[in-house]
Amino acid sequence: MESLKGRDLLSLADLSASELNSLLELAAQLKKGEVQWRCNKVLGLLFSKASTRTRVSLTVAMYQLGGQVIDLLPNVIQVSRGEPLIDTARVLDRYLDVLAIRTFEQQDLETFAEYAKIPVINALTDREHPCQILADLLTSKECFGNLEGRTLTYVGDGNNVAHSLLLGCALAGMNVRVATPPKFEPNGEIVAQARQMAAGRTEVMITTDPVAAVTGSQVVYTDVWASMGQEASAGDRLPVFQPYQVNKELLAKAAPEAIVLHCLPAHRGEEITDEVMEGSRSRIWDQAENRLHAQKALLASILGNELSNFQ
Ligand code: CP
Ligand code: NVA
Repeated sequence: MESLKGRDLLSLADLSASELNSLLELAAQLKKGEVQWRCNKVLGLLFSKASTRTRVSLTVAMYQLGGQVIDLLPNVIQVSRGEPLIDTARVLDRYLDVLAIRTFEQQDLETFAEYAKIPVINALTDREHPCQILADLLTSKECFGNLEGRTLTYVGDGNNVAHSLLLGCALAGMNVRVATPPKFEPNGEIVAQARQMAAGRTEVMITTDPVAAVTGSQVVYTDVWASMGQEASAGDRLPVFQPYQVNKELLAKAAPEAIVLHCLPAHRGEEITDEVMEGSRSRIWDQAENRLHAQKALLASILGNELSNFQ
């Protein structure tokens, strides 16, 4: 099993295909209780945006590994009074063993990682959400046994989740399709990076046609139409995104064995109907649970040999 000891996870592009595979294997083993890890380390959470799943699952993961967590509420620490990130990073580095950051700009995360020698985990930025996609791939693997050659289609806004899905699926050997309204396509640099990672072996499709994208897919995925920080444009987006709703009619185009995923929180009746969320294809609650197992594997791998593995 490949270790990520001492490494940052700022983007899924930081991982090789075999490292991703090792993480998913370890997550599955931890979930089944086949391996146990014990550590005495401290994780810091520095979240500048709201979070339920990421905050709680990282905290519980660290507790279950035997470690401890400090919630560094941004309004309580001195960054709220203007202490520079590069100073905060160097100080936190001296106390913590690993730090998870949720913020707006990817650049702020990268600056933090540059100045803190401890491993830094991207717990969501405007550009990427790698921790989420580890859980999504774990969930898909549980449903289909293997990921190679399966097709995941994301329908909605070309946002952070879409970006990390593009990279994660390309790395996992899945075909990945992203259907967005015109002008809401994913970032071109990330699409190019995903195509490079797929290296012609798997499909990377960007389209404005949700029906063409979903047709024959094994995984149908959506996320909110307006992400955190985009609330002001939420109303204007509603009519533009309406044709991209994941509903019974769109899902009927997917493969017969298709599952539905959503990173949550969902705006029921907007990007996804109640019927689909609660329907037989939905694996959304397993997906949410898998945040815990995937991140436990990530923390265990990053903390590496410091942990004792009691198999
Ligand atoms: N999916 C996800 O990251 O959820 P939270 O924003 O609640 O952490
Ligand atoms: N795209 C969403 C994901 C939330 C987990 C956001 O950034 O708000």
